[in-house]
Amino acid sequence: MAQSATEIESTKSLFELRGVIKRFGRVQALTDIHLHLERGKTTVIIGPSGCGKTVLLKHLIVLIRPDRGEVYFDRVRIDNLPESRLTAMRRRCGFLFQAGALFDSETAAQNVAFPLVQHTDYPAEQIDRIVQDKLAIVGLAGFGDRLPSELSGGQIKRVALARAIALSPEVILYDEPTTGLDPIRAEVINDLIIKLQRELKITSIVVTHDLHSAYKVGDRIVMLSHGRIVADGTPSQIRQSQQDEVQYFLQGRSDGLDGDLL
Ligand SMILES: Nc1ncnc2c1ncn2[C@@H]1O[C@H](COP(=O)(O)OP(=O)(O)OP(=O)(O)O)[C@@H](O)[C@H]1O
Ligand SMILES: [Mg+2]
Repeated sequence: MAQSATEIESTKSLFELRGVIKRFGRVQALTDIHLHLERGKTTVIIGPSGCGKTVLLKHLIVLIRPDRGEVYFDRVRIDNLPESRLTAMRRRCGFLFQAGALFDSETAAQNVAFPLVQHTDYPAEQIDRIVQDKLAIVGLAGFGDRLPSELSGGQIKRVALARAIALSPEVILYDEPTTGLDPIRAEVINDLIIKLQRELKITSIVVTHDLHSAYKVGDRIVMLSHGRIVADGTPSQIRQSQQDEVQYFLQGRSDGLDGDLL
């Protein structure tokens, strides 16, 4: 029997949010979010500060649970699972947090090794090999012995990315991967996001303010405003959007943005 359009969409999508609502006190962080995120693609989430991007990303691996609505990963409902049953799905996802924090007292290599030590029983030599391999992927071969205080901001992000891919995830969630980096270091991160998607077929979800990065790495861009999806399309569709709200954001004009910026 032929599949319906909805069935085809849910087969292709790795994550699905159905009617997700999240409120913190008086702040309506997400309002009725319906979203399919396609396997093997890079979806970029943009929008003004405070519009709900990080909250949305955290719902995908149930670091935050919705007040209403459902979250699916690989067609399995996950938002209602107990913590003990989330470990297996989280192992399949790497997460580059907004702060990108490393353990300050541990070397780059020890930071990258952390998820391997936590989640596997690999012997030390195997962990060491994987760590060297991941550091090489992010262009930091030979930096394993450095402490975070001996690394630049861009190098710290790359070590955090090496840690995020330590368990060879199928998915990487990036929260502001290029923020705070100069254009050259930001470009290194953009190229890595593209490389990981192309070479390792990783599904990427990238939250960013950086429009250059969004256009460069995104197969698709979803724009949020005040916790709602206001635009969804390819980078060129988003650029050509006739919606004022989208154009205000793209042009960096403050007159159409969220109240908390003004
Ligand atoms: N744990 C929390 N408790 C209370 N309010 C929260 C919490 N997390 C987020 N919020 C609020 O929810 C809204 C959305 O926050 P979120 O972190 O998703 O914004 P964002 O779009 O990622 O912004 P930025 O671009 O500045 O990182 C904000 O008003 C924020 O203050
Ligand atoms: Mg954020």
